Formats: sequence, structure tokens, C-alpha cells
Amino acid sequence: MQIHETIESLRAARAGAGKVAFVPTMGNLHEGHITLMRQAGERADCVIASIFVNRLQFGAGEDFDRYPRTFAADCEKLQAAGVKHLFAPDEHVMYPEPQRYHVEPAPAQVSILEGEFRPGHFRGVATVVMKLLNIVQPDLALFGKKDYQQLMVLSNMVREMAMPVEVIPGDTVRAEDGLALSSRNGYLSADERARAPLLYRLLCGIRDAVRAGDHDLLKLETDAMATLAAAGWQPDYIAVRRRADLQPPAHLNDPLVVLAAAKLGRTRLIDNLEI
Ligand code: PAF
Repeated sequence: MQIHETIESLRAARAGAGKVAFVPTMGNLHEGHITLMRQAGERADCVIASIFVNRLQFGAGEDFDRYPRTFAADCEKLQAAGVKHLFAPDEHVMYPEPQRYHVEPAPAQVSILEGEFRPGHFRGVATVVMKLLNIVQPDLALFGKKDYQQLMVLSNMVREMAMPVEVIPGDTVRAEDGLALSSRNGYLSADERARAPLLYRLLCGIRDAVRAGDHDLLKLETDAMATLAAAGWQPDYIAVRRRADLQPPAHLNDPLVVLAAAKLGRTRLIDNLEI
């Protein structure tokens, strides 16, 4: 695997690489990322990954400084997964001058759910992903469904801006006890890690209830929030939404997804399940 620290070097490698699939990451790679790399490899001649912890998408008081940086271990995993090129710019390469141009996602899509609790987050994500896609110019780009709202925002950005790239969603990878794999799981203490699968179990309960015909979504959501709070979590939201735009469903035969975010100790976990 070749590691490229500059845009020029990455672009030279990309030229002549055939059909390219791109998987952007912030590093601290786990099996969820590696599954995306393998999926990418099945669809293209060449997989390019990136590792860049993007300051623009972290709010004040969030975990930008303590976000886990594990570059050497990440490189070994990428190499083993067949990734040919890694773009690993530092901040001076990505933001050589203060970034004054930004991608402003549709307010209706980013004022809800994650956007309500992380103002400016999706503007930072959309801006860096637009920039990375302009640098790499891939044919395909893969994003995990674990960040469901991010996937929606980025798919809409690519479509509305007529960007010449196909967005491919990747399924969430879970630990045996159901906890969705996430770089932030590493912040959990042993006790918190043992309690963390409650979030997934509650999502499964809501999914099963809705599938079985329970249409009182508000009660399902508030009961699950109360269960989390009683178990010592600080829930931000649990919401059943339309898959297409993450707005409250008008009809229960709309394709649905249940999404959740909650803090366990100092760690904020998110998860979702399609219904
Ligand atoms: O999902 C992530 O890891 C990040 O939000 C992304 C897409 C790499 C942009 O920084």
C-alpha cells in the first residue's frame, strides 16, 4: 500500500488506476471500516482509503483532541484488506488556509436528530467530503449506515450537486452482543462496555413492535428513552423516522428506520436499525 501525504501524489496515483472505490475515514479502524474496504474491493479495480480527523466537523467541547489516532495499526489493517492507496494528509494539506467556502446542507435535514445536538457537524462533514471527493475523484464512495443521517446528507449532496460519483451504503457491523462497532467504543470503561448493548436491544424492541403492528410511535420512543435514563444513560433522542428524509412518518407503510443517540458516562453512542 502506498501512503500519500499530498494531493499531488494522490492524484498521480489515481490517474490510470482504473475504476476507483474510495472509503474516507477518520482512522482508528475497526471491522466496520474493513468490511467497507472489502466491499469496495469487490466493486472496483483499486481501493483508495483516507485517514483524516476533520476538525471542521467537531463542535466546541467535543472530542477532536482526544479522538483516537492509531496510524500504524490502521495501515496494517488497510494493507491486509487489499487497499492500494492511502491518502493521509495533515491539516496543512487539507486546510492550507482557513476554509472559507463550505457546503451548507439543507437545514431541514441537519436541524434534526444528530444536527440538533451537534450544530455545524454536517456542514463540516459535507465540506470535507466534497473536498476529498474532488481530490480523489473516485467512481464510487462508500459510507457506513451506522452514521445514517451522514449517509443521507452525503447522498443528497452528491445528487443535488451532480457529482460524478456513486454513493454505496455499507451495513453496520456489530459485536456479538449487538453493540455497533465504533471508534468511540474505545472510550467506554469495562462496566460501561458491558451495559452498552442496551441501546441496540431497545432499537430491536421498537423495530419488532412496529413490525408487529404497534403504531404508537411516541409511546415506543418515550418508553425506550425512560428505560435508558433509568439505566443511568443520558438519552438525546430515540426516533422512528422515514428512511428517505428522516422526517416523522406520515404513513406507517413508509420505509422506516429507528435512530438513537445517548450518552453512557462521557461517551456518546449512536445507532439505528431499519424497520
Ligand atoms: O464517518 C466518518 O468517519 C467521517 O464523518 C468522514 C465521512 C470520514 C468525514 O470526515
